[in-house]
Amino acid sequence: MRSALLAFPGPIVTWVRRARVLLTGRGLTLEVDIAHDEAKGDEARTRPLFPVWSTAVFRLLLVLGVAALVSIPAGLWAWERTPYITGVGTPRPQPVKFDHRHHVRDDGIACTYCHGDVARSASAGMPAASLCMGCHSQIWTNSAELAPVRQAYFADAPLAWNRVTRLPEFVYFNHSIHVSKGVGCVSCHGRVDRMAQVYAVEPFTMQFCLDCHRSPEARLRPLSEITNMEWQPSGSAADSGARLRQQLNVEPPTDCTTCHR
Ligand code: HEC
Ligand code: HEC
Ligand code: HEC
Ligand code: HEC
Ligand code: HEC
Repeated sequence: MRSALLAFPGPIVTWVRRARVLLTGRGLTLEVDIAHDEAKGDEARTRPLFPVWSTAVFRLLLVLGVAALVSIPAGLWAWERTPYITGVGTPRPQPVKFDHRHHVRDDGIACTYCHGDVARSASAGMPAASLCMGCHSQIWTNSAELAPVRQAYFADAPLAWNRVTRLPEFVYFNHSIHVSKGVGCVSCHGRVDRMAQVYAVEPFTMQFCLDCHRSPEARLRPLSEITNMEWQPSGSAADSGARLRQQLNVEPPTDCTTCHR
């Protein structure tokens, strides 16, 4: 009885040491057995606790675990920013195949004719069916493509365009301030005049907004060129931008409450 009590911590110590050897991965069980189970002699030597390859497996699992801790969040972060998720470069299905190339380039209609709120309100606004009918009650009156426009017009209903560009609810954006401080449509929407169907060219991440708010010079233009998709500064962009910045008194804020109110 007495000797059994005294012997009790023995196996625990051995197990702890075995675990430590396994963790540090040095030589595994044989060392332990020889050092601490000498009394048992050859028997201990021949029965290692874990097979030798278990060290390799254990280390591999440790490495994989740490890698997963890092790579899963990083992967999700990157995934959220792929064009597949942000929708960059992908048009959305629309009720009418409206083509900006024809209307803007070939027919020379100004952006503001159809997106008339852009200079005076937060949103740019979408054209009503009645605006389309101003022309299409005269031309292409029988076009099948235009049937939904005629329907909406006679039913006095809005056309259900699918939004291409949309910020999350918690972001405040305002078109008029940008347009009246010399930021052109092309800086954020790209060459809409070359798009058969509109798609987003920017992911509209916070970084995108802040990059310009921190140094807007290179993207400023005279107020007369806001909707001009082809305008380029005559001299160096930096000089022209610095001049415009002063002229228009451009000071984009970068504090959080500017965009998160
Ligand atoms: C004749 C009318 C008309 C003119 C002119 C016009 N647009 Fe549009 N625009 C539309 C219609 C209709 C839609 C919705 C269909 C679509 O998204 O393709 C639209 C959609 C857009 C969108 C996508 C909005 C969103 O997020 O869903 C942008 C950006 C845009 N227009 C920019 C411009 C710019 C810049 C110009 C000038 C270069 C311009 N538009 C000229 C009628 C017009
Ligand atoms: C200022 C006049 C004008 C306005 C306003 C206008 N369009 Fe047009 N639209 C035209 C002209 C001109 C054409 C022929 C273009 C071409 O083929 O070059 C055309 C062609 C089209 C076509 C192609 C028709 C077909 O059968 O191929 C569609 C679709 C269309 N417009 C939709 C719209 C929509 C939707 C609106 C309103 C958001 C609109 N248009 C506003 C002048 C206009
Ligand atoms: C500083 C960047 C920026 C500039 C410059 C800009 N837009 Fe936008 N535009 C956006 C963003 C961001 C949205 C999405 C807004 C939202 O989700 O509330 C948008 C949305 C739109 C829409 C969809 C309807 C709406 O109002 O939400 C249209 C149409 C549009 N813009 C047209 C224009 C035109 C035309 C111009 C030039 C006169 C222009 N934009 C200039 C960033 C810009
Ligand atoms: C290409 C340059 C550019 C980009 C991109 C841009 N901004 Fe701006 N922003 C400006 C300029 C210039 C002003 C006007 C600053 C001033 O009033 O002097 C401004 C002003 C603003 C204001 C008004 C601040 C006030 O005075 O209260 C808001 C809000 C804003 N931006 C939000 C955004 C958001 C959100 C985005 C991204 C979706 C964005 N901006 C992208 C250039 C830009
Ligand atoms: C110029 C505009 C602007 C300013 C200034 C700004 N944000 Fe944002 N913020 C955005 C936009 C746009 C998004 C949406 C980004 C997206 O959907 O990817 C956003 C998203 C976020 C998110 C959501 C997480 C994410 O990245 O999607 C957080 C949190 C945030 N902002 C915090 C802040 C803080 C804190 C500040 C001040 C240091 C700040 N923002 C200043 C435009 C701005």
